[in-house]
Amino acid sequence: MVIGIDVAMRSDVRPMWRLLTESFVLWNNNFADYSVFAERVFRSPGNGWIFLAAHDDDQFAGFAVVKPNQNLGRETMPESIWGELLYVAVPADRRGQGVGAALISAAEQLLLESGRLAIMACLDGGSVKLYARLGWAVGDHNEWILFPDYYTGRHGHQAWGHPADALYPRWAWKSLDPHRPVKAWTMPAGQKPPLAKLKAELLRQSTYQPMGPV
Ligand SMILES: CC(C)(COP(=O)(O)OP(=O)(O)OC[C@H]1O[C@@H](n2cnc3c(N)ncnc32)[C@H](O)[C@@H]1OP(=O)(O)O)[C@@H](O)C(=O)NCCC(=O)NCCS
Repeated sequence: MVIGIDVAMRSDVRPMWRLLTESFVLWNNNFADYSVFAERVFRSPGNGWIFLAAHDDDQFAGFAVVKPNQNLGRETMPESIWGELLYVAVPADRRGQGVGAALISAAEQLLLESGRLAIMACLDGGSVKLYARLGWAVGDHNEWILFPDYYTGRHGHQAWGHPADALYPRWAWKSLDPHRPVKAWTMPAGQKPPLAKLKAELLRQSTYQPMGPV
């Protein structure tokens, strides 16, 4: 099996939509409607979502959606150091053959090439093992994630974060560039954020070159 991963083509849109609606409980969008999804894919260069499709020879074998331009950290750097993996899915009859891992690695590579230093995602329980094997740090159920690069004394934020939700209850993240490592922390709601650690991490990150726009 030779897996190729590239930016999705027009012929991938229908199988991506089918797989998306089969694989995920969609809660905050309208993708149950194919035309809304297709519109989103075709406009994606303008709206910041990148659709990657996997092919095994010419056969569609899965997809991932990557969002390189998180706005976190705007106040400390022109663009964030974080990008996000929004979706990854492989058709049921092709699972367990490394396509999911290849898609996640391609998403990491794409973000690194776009100047991002770290990737994050919200996971459901089933994929924790896979992400951990790929070197991601995985938070516990229903924890918040803290991004040190959003810390600003000026606006009184301690760190940006939000809780993982009931459907995809675990935050996961990975630092992408060994020469410019990035850290985040997850913690249960109501716990005091580790401010000293966040500040030290932010200070270290502030020595990195500003990120360019994607
Ligand atoms: C998660 C998913 C993308 C993995 O794709 P894949 O091509 O099977 O992944 P790989 O072959 O690279 O790795 C298989 C690993 O995925 C994990 N996995 C999660 N759900 C799985 C499933 N339904 N079938 C097989 N493996 C699954 C297994 O832990 C397996 O780990 P192992 O190899 O150590 O046993 C795929 O199972 C899928 O599309 N699931 C539905 C959508 C989804 O849950 N996406 C992730 C949301 S956070």
